[in-house]
Amino acid sequence: MNNYTQIFVGTAFTSDSSEKISILKDYLFCINHSGMISKIVAPQDEEYQLLIETHKGQDHFHVLDDGHYLLPGFVDLHVHAPQWAQSGTAQDLPLYDWLNTYTFPLEAKYSDLDFAQSVYGNLVDTLLANGTTTALYFATVHKEASLLLAEICAQKGQRGLVGKVVMDDPEQNPPYYRDQDAETALRETEEFILAVKELNKTVKQGVYPVVTPRFIPSCSDEALKGLGDLALKYDTHIQSHCSESDWAHHYVKERFNKHDAFALNDFGLLSDKSVMAHSNFLSDEDAALFAETGTAIAHCPLSNAYFANSVLPLHRFRKMGIDIGLGTDISAGATPSLYDNAKQAVISSRMLEDGVNANLPADERGVANSRITINEAFYLATAGGGESLSIPVGRIKEGYAWDVQIIDTKVPAAKLPIFDPNEDLYDIFQKIMYNVRPENIREVWVQGEKVHTR
Ligand code: GUN
Ligand code: FE
Repeated sequence: MNNYTQIFVGTAFTSDSSEKISILKDYLFCINHSGMISKIVAPQDEEYQLLIETHKGQDHFHVLDDGHYLLPGFVDLHVHAPQWAQSGTAQDLPLYDWLNTYTFPLEAKYSDLDFAQSVYGNLVDTLLANGTTTALYFATVHKEASLLLAEICAQKGQRGLVGKVVMDDPEQNPPYYRDQDAETALRETEEFILAVKELNKTVKQGVYPVVTPRFIPSCSDEALKGLGDLALKYDTHIQSHCSESDWAHHYVKERFNKHDAFALNDFGLLSDKSVMAHSNFLSDEDAALFAETGTAIAHCPLSNAYFANSVLPLHRFRKMGIDIGLGTDISAGATPSLYDNAKQAVISSRMLEDGVNANLPADERGVANSRITINEAFYLATAGGGESLSIPVGRIKEGYAWDVQIIDTKVPAAKLPIFDPNEDLYDIFQKIMYNVRPENIREVWVQGEKVHTR
């Protein structure tokens, strides 16, 4: 009983299933020295009073204030860290032109480590302040700056999964921003994997190297094959973009006479530790291959509204057994907040279900059974993200990491619209999901350590 390094008393919201929110009212949460939730005690349990009497008044015993609630920390499955420097701009062009006009010139600047330090330091702080405790990052082609991002995550206490981006095809990438050739890209990726694994030895919350071909159009066959081999050799996570837009989807069909999913699989890039961004244009066969290989989808609904020419058929893919989580896709998605993306996931799904062209009859306008609830969107931002990464995060549950955000519904600058002292707790949950601002996120904890206070 005295092995707990932290004990919290309060009310928590966590996903029970993709549809159901579990409300743990006035529970005790006991955290061990590794930062894992080792015991959750209900008020009616025998030990409850005894634990309170033993620990109360001590520094490690935290009683949440009135109006404060616990939520799992969010898992952002798709962030382009370098693009934070252009977030909110460059939203006017389609994907291919956007990459060449704005994004590659910006990413090329991360050969400068001082610039990388200033952007990456601010981004990690900002994501933590928005409740994101785990993030799956694309860095740039530069090995040193990519390693710096992992070091910043390590130092600031965020669980970071970081990829040095590979883009070696001279036909598709500008001379000022690409890997020198496939061999160099693979050597540097291997060095990066080893350096992050070494760094991880001293990091409580974990930092992980990720094999990261930007997307098939950026990479030669040799690089794609070599990256699949490296992921297998070092048992790493893998990330890329898959079937995102009409252009990207058709490019791969023309080059390989097959869809992204099957091409990626041929190179050994689909596994239980793979997370593919977007994947809007998966056919049923592609989706079945994702389910079979354990490949997850990073759903980025805000980004999709600008760049994907479509809305992800989320229900269809979930029913086929694919793990799905949420991503901001900074900067194609211009917000650091998964709250914004959870709302957008609901909105986009409603528009997919109803359809958008008022000139069509109602029964021909949309795709039936597409809408998702805010409960499902919350699941995607939390438990769905953890499942996608195969890491025990995203739930407030025994055996999971103590990665939480403490929400203050009464903070004067951003009081939530709760006026009844006996407000239904599920209504409070919904009001949090729809109305929270960074001001309401008072504390963020990762792996049992406080990493943000406001
Ligand atoms: N496809 C290849 N690179 C990118 C990127 O940086 N953002 C998005 N949204 N799609 C991509
Ligand atoms: Fe992206």
